[in-house]
Amino acid sequence: MSPDRRTALITGASSGIGAAFVRRLAVDHDVLVLVARDETRLRQWEQRVPATVEVLAADLATPEGRAAVEARVAQGVDTLVNNAGLGLSGPFVGHDIETLQHQLDVNVTSVLRLTHAALPPMIARGSGAVINVSSVAGFFGSRSAGYGASKAWVTTFSEGLAIALNGTGVRVQALCPGFVRTEFHERAGMDVGSRTGPLWLDADRVVSDSLADLARGRVVSVPSLTYKILVGVIDLMPRRVTGAVLRRFDRRDR
Ligand SMILES: NC(=O)c1ccc[n+]([C@@H]2O[C@H](COP(=O)([O-])OP(=O)(O)OC[C@H]3O[C@@H](n4cnc5c(N)ncnc54)[C@H](OP(=O)(O)O)[C@@H]3O)[C@@H](O)[C@H]2O)c1
Repeated sequence: MSPDRRTALITGASSGIGAAFVRRLAVDHDVLVLVARDETRLRQWEQRVPATVEVLAADLATPEGRAAVEARVAQGVDTLVNNAGLGLSGPFVGHDIETLQHQLDVNVTSVLRLTHAALPPMIARGSGAVINVSSVAGFFGSRSAGYGASKAWVTTFSEGLAIALNGTGVRVQALCPGFVRTEFHERAGMDVGSRTGPLWLDADRVVSDSLADLARGRVVSVPSLTYKILVGVIDLMPRRVTGAVLRRFDRRDR
C-alpha cells in the first residue's frame, strides 16, 4: 500500500457485480488485483481499464486459493471488495454436504480470512475500505437456508467490524442488493424469467449506490428505494410474523 499507488483487490472480478466494481474502481485506483477462478476472463481486463491489472486466479473454496489471496492482501491494499459468492437453487436437503460446504467457504470463510489479512496494514495507515457483498436475502430465512444464513453472517460481521474499527479511519460496508442482472441465477440453476421489472437492478447501479453510501459512512447499503422499503418493513415485523409470511408464500415442490 503506497500513498501514491492506490490499490484495490476485488474477488469475483470475472463477472456481474465484481465486474462493475472493476469498471468503477479503475477510475480512482492505480492498481487492481483481480481474483476469480477463470484466469482468461480476468486477463481481458488488462485491455479494458486504465489501471494496472494484477491477475490472481484462485479458487476461494480451497485453503490454497484463499492463502494465495490472503498473502497478497496482507501486502496492503486500500480497498478490499469481498464480492465472490454463489447461490444454490432448491431446498437445503436437496444438496450434498460438500456443495453446501463449498458455498460456505466462498461466501463466509473467504470474507473472514481476507478481511483479517487486510485490516492490519489499513489500521496502521489510518485509512482503507472493506466492502463485503452481502444480500437482502440475509435479512430473512429462505428455503435454501445456507445462502441467506451466509449473507446474514456477512452483514452482521460487517456491522460488528464497523464498531470495532470506529476511529481508526478504516471504513467497512455490507452491500445488500436485491435481484441483480448477473450470471448468479443461471449459475445457481434458478429459473428467474425475463429479469425485468422494478425488483431487478443493474450491477453498475448497485456499485454506484454502494460507493455513494461508503462516502456517507453508511455501514449497511441497500441499493434502490424499493429494497430500502422492503428491508424497512421486514425490520419492523416480528420474526415469527416474517417467518409465517415466508412459509405461506413458499409452497413449491412439496
Ligand atoms: N445477482 C444477484 O441477484 C445478487 C443479489 C444479492 C447479492 N449477490 C451477491 O453478489 C456477489 C456477486 O455475485 P454476482 O451476482 O455478480 O454473480 P456472478 O455473475 O455469478 O459472479 C460471481 C463471481 O464470483 C466468482 N466466484 C464464484 N466462485 C468462486 C470461487 N470458488 N473462487 C473464486 N471466485 C469465485 C466468479 O468467478 P469464477 O467463476 O471465474 O471463479 C464470479 O466472478 C455474490 O456474493 C452474490 O451472493 C448477488
